[in-house]
Amino acid sequence: EGKVILAIETSCDETSAAIVEEGHKIRSNIIASQVATHQVFGGVVPEIASRKHMESITAVVDRALEEGQCRWSDVTALAVTQGPGLVGALLVGVAYAKGVAMARELPLVGVHHIEGHIYANFLQYPQLSFPLLCLVVSGGHSHLIYLQDHGTMKILGSTRDDAAGEAYDKIARALGLGYPGGPLIEKLARQGDPTAYELPRAWLKDSYDFSFSGLKSSVLNLLNRAKLKGEEVDKAALAASFQEAVVDVLVEKTCSAAESLQISTVLLAGGVAANGYLRQRLEKALQKKDKKLFVPPLELCTDNAAMIACAGYYRLQRGERAGSDLNGQANLPL
Ligand code: KG4
Ligand code: ZN
Repeated sequence: EGKVILAIETSCDETSAAIVEEGHKIRSNIIASQVATHQVFGGVVPEIASRKHMESITAVVDRALEEGQCRWSDVTALAVTQGPGLVGALLVGVAYAKGVAMARELPLVGVHHIEGHIYANFLQYPQLSFPLLCLVVSGGHSHLIYLQDHGTMKILGSTRDDAAGEAYDKIARALGLGYPGGPLIEKLARQGDPTAYELPRAWLKDSYDFSFSGLKSSVLNLLNRAKLKGEEVDKAALAASFQEAVVDVLVEKTCSAAESLQISTVLLAGGVAANGYLRQRLEKALQKKDKKLFVPPLELCTDNAAMIACAGYYRLQRGERAGSDLNGQANLPL
């Protein structure tokens, strides 16, 4: 039943639909970004996101079918992001998927958004063998996850406040860089000295949890103080120092979890996995311990429906089916 999956993802500000064959072969992966719409507000406006999803979902699905050289009658199953995310945004995808599943009598599965991010790795590297450790860092989440097998995951640690990507976005906004902030900070940081500003790192001893709000406050305070005193801030150096603090903690915690659980293969996932500096530092640190890092290609790191199709494929294989009571859930637990 997972032969030709049509997947839909509408959890945040991208309307995406994909056609994936046998769980791994991407025939199309259409992403209609709303970034330009939300940019003027400096962040995602939920009501606008829902409306935009409504406006574009049909066209996005049609394009996914067309680019995937696929007719409706070729589709054998559907997968949709069930949560977490913006509830109004999720509902658009879920309602659409349920409508199609009912009308065409196709099996449907709901997928957890974070699981989707993790499965971007399986899309690219189907041979990955368990157990695996995955660092998921996105705009809404920062988790260290232990994967025993498909469908068996355990959260080892989570952020206690801001997610890593959220911290990037907030600092970028304070620096007047724009939205989304991650790629802009990364770019600016390349020209700055990462040791120029001394910023805090929340190690939270004996825990795999993360905390980035203290770091965020330090940067914001520094900017405010400079403004009051009329002093210049070296933005590139501040961006680099901020990124250094985030990456130091992510790398150290991931490595120590991999070591103490004796896991030799580590995955990186989520929007922040697109960060080249994080990829490079984590890969090096793991290499030193004879461990290997896998990272999805850039375009599969941020929100897209192909990763949802891949995760959905394994759910279908386990015999899972969603009923007509499937609903979008803002806080869906993993
Ligand atoms: O996974 P994603 O597309 O959406 C969520 O599920 O949250 O992640 C988006 C997040 C944003 O916070 C964005 O700033 C961050 O990923 N991001 C980056 C980079 N590219 C995207 N953060 C740091 N460096 C990047 N190159
Ligand atoms: Zn995401």
